[in-house]
Amino acid sequence: MVRKVETALVQAGRAPVKQYGFVNPPLKRGSTVLHASVAAKKAVGQRAAFEPVENYGLMGSETHFALEAAIAEIEGGTHAQVTGSGLSAITLPLLAYLNTGEHLLVPDSVYGPTRSFCDSVLKRFGVETTYYDPMINAEGLEALFRPNTKVLFTESPGSHTFEVQDIPALAEVAHRHGAKVFLDNTWGILHFAPFEKGVDVSIHALTKYPGGHSDIILGAVVVNSEEDWRWLRLGSLETGNYASPDDCWLALRGLRTLHVRLKAAEAAGLKIAQWFAARPEVARVLHPAMPSCPGHEFFKRDFTGACGLFGVVFKPEYNAEDVVRMIDALAMFGIGASWGGFESLVLPTTGTIRRSAGTGRFEGEAARFQIGLENVDDLIADLEQGLAVLRRS
Ligand SMILES: Cc1ncc(COP(=O)(O)O)c(C=O)c1O
Repeated sequence: MVRKVETALVQAGRAPVKQYGFVNPPLKRGSTVLHASVAAKKAVGQRAAFEPVENYGLMGSETHFALEAAIAEIEGGTHAQVTGSGLSAITLPLLAYLNTGEHLLVPDSVYGPTRSFCDSVLKRFGVETTYYDPMINAEGLEALFRPNTKVLFTESPGSHTFEVQDIPALAEVAHRHGAKVFLDNTWGILHFAPFEKGVDVSIHALTKYPGGHSDIILGAVVVNSEEDWRWLRLGSLETGNYASPDDCWLALRGLRTLHVRLKAAEAAGLKIAQWFAARPEVARVLHPAMPSCPGHEFFKRDFTGACGLFGVVFKPEYNAEDVVRMIDALAMFGIGASWGGFESLVLPTTGTIRRSAGTGRFEGEAARFQIGLENVDDLIADLEQGLAVLRRS
């Protein structure tokens, strides 16, 4: 029976009858798995490469498989592989799919460490990267394809600058050229159905909303065909990828409440983004659900909702030091990396983002806000006094 996402989040990866009646699957830690005989070990070993079968700790345990089943289902894919971090969920499929002499296309708005990986490791291995404007259309993208282009990487919305990409149109071009489409879908969790929009490999930092409590580092890669599963799973086994079962267990627990936490973050984030948009100190709000965000039309068409992470561009009369002073004055916003936890965060973003295709320039200094589960009026009161500090600077 097909179940809706709220139901899947509650039920997926659980089998109480097999778990001595306990509601949740066990947290299994371990390296060695014992077998009844050499023949039994051999039979399990043959299946364990591509099936969720316990054979050796590195290949996964019931705890990993439970989370992978749940993530695959909510993404609408056939298989998922958990990884030790969100960043390794990006690097693993890039390593698994690309060969020396090949080329990949990456949006200029990509998460910084993805860019570093392309510019260092992939470059050393003879894989060339071209950065493209995330707002490129199908025609523009077509011109960037080469006979050796094997991967179109996408991230929508973009890190820090929130450009929403026209994934279906870009995917159509990539497939016509025989390339695979990768998407860092971390922001779009539950709200963007990757495989319905032409994506082949969907990537998540489970560190963010699935974890939800700022206490784990974890990633997942999801695919929707046996062919892609073979590439991904072999890549995982061959590179020694592993995720802590403790973190998998916590992520699975996080999934049970993901829907309500995300709804709350979406509502609070939108309320605060709209409040910012009406402020005289603000030039523009970079929230995909608002028309001031590049690619808003694709958000309206392709997403079913938003999370609580967005950007604010301040008017040009405020310089970088002014924005830093404002951020330092905020009492309810932690200053730190990451997002998707229960607590609100803020980071200055201008000057920290790297670009090479000439995109991402704004009229003023910018900051990124992650809205948590605090009372929204408390947050707004804090922002109000922060803006007073900005005005005084
Ligand atoms: C869009 C995006 N993808 C991937 C990652 C990497 O996740 P992790 O910190 O788990 O490596 C991040 C982390 O900030 C991110 O923002």
